[in-house]
Amino acid sequence: MNKSINIEGVHIPSRFFLAPMAGYTDYVFRSLCREFGAGLLVTELVSVAALSRQISKTYKYMEYLEHEAPLSLQLFGSNEDEYKKAIEESDLSFYSFIDINMGCPTRKVVRSGGGSAILTDTNKMLSILRAVKSVAKCPVSVKVRLGFKRGEGGTVERILALKEEKPAFITLHGRYASDMYRGVADWEAIAEAKNALGDFILIGNGDVKSYSDAVKAFEISKVDGIMVGRGAVGCPWIFDELNRVFEPNEEPKKYSIKDIIIRHLKGCTHLYGEIRGIHFMRKFIMKYLAYAGLTRTQKIEFMQTESVEEIINLLQKHNVS
Ligand SMILES: Cc1cc2nc3c(=O)[nH]c(=O)nc-3n(C[C@H](O)[C@H](O)[C@H](O)COP(=O)(O)O)c2cc1C
Repeated sequence: MNKSINIEGVHIPSRFFLAPMAGYTDYVFRSLCREFGAGLLVTELVSVAALSRQISKTYKYMEYLEHEAPLSLQLFGSNEDEYKKAIEESDLSFYSFIDINMGCPTRKVVRSGGGSAILTDTNKMLSILRAVKSVAKCPVSVKVRLGFKRGEGGTVERILALKEEKPAFITLHGRYASDMYRGVADWEAIAEAKNALGDFILIGNGDVKSYSDAVKAFEISKVDGIMVGRGAVGCPWIFDELNRVFEPNEEPKKYSIKDIIIRHLKGCTHLYGEIRGIHFMRKFIMKYLAYAGLTRTQKIEFMQTESVEEIINLLQKHNVS
């Protein structure tokens, strides 16, 4: 298998994709992941109800930088007409794919009939995919979980039904929506789905946080690629480590955690404003500092800062390099 993959004419530099994560995967973080060799990048989920009504806040979630190509736009919603209107009336020309979220388990999304709720109604699932495909000017993919409720089964049947509608690829997170993020992702279930799909492109997802996790996941499931979410938070260099699976002789990229934190931080303060940007970065900083080996007490000091300068001083004080 090559490191890169071609999907419907789109060249994707690595089979390790960055997962969409609301509140995390803005263009600043995505760009860092791409620098370290991430394959397809995806925006966080964007509401078609909001986009079809041109609610201005929505456009913030859709911002991108030119060097992010190939980038996918993830949409969620439950109404076919809203999907169509959102797609037809927006300039989506930069995005290489539109991804439909059929996996989000959060109460707000499920209550509105979107995300993983779609998995409870196969006809709805297919009609949303058809509606999006009928208007999209780029390939369309779907991101699903094993199902809505643990134990209900039907994963393979649903995946095969989706395949009939010819999405560009499917991403399967090896959990049920009712699991939220509990337990461990079921790569055996992902393997069953891949086995049923044959040559059709399946991207597996769930709990891949290291090179050895990735090797194991590929071995078990024979998927065409792996999507990585939480394993990349505060650790964008994971993509360089993962790409070793395909290029074992490449020199690992050199990086400085301090420089990455500063660049990430400055990107966030530029995007969200100084105070909001710093608050937004806190969850990332905690992770980065854990990788840098700081103690809990040292990390807490960073949580009390309100300026970029203070953070840079603390990085120096604690010898983060
Ligand atoms: C904070 C957070 C936000 C997420 N937001 C989204 C989202 O917007 N769209 C989506 O399809 N999945 C979302 N997910 C799910 C991830 O894309 C991924 O499927 C899940 O985290 C499992 O992969 P991982 O174990 O590599 O993190 C989110 C997950 C987390 C932890």
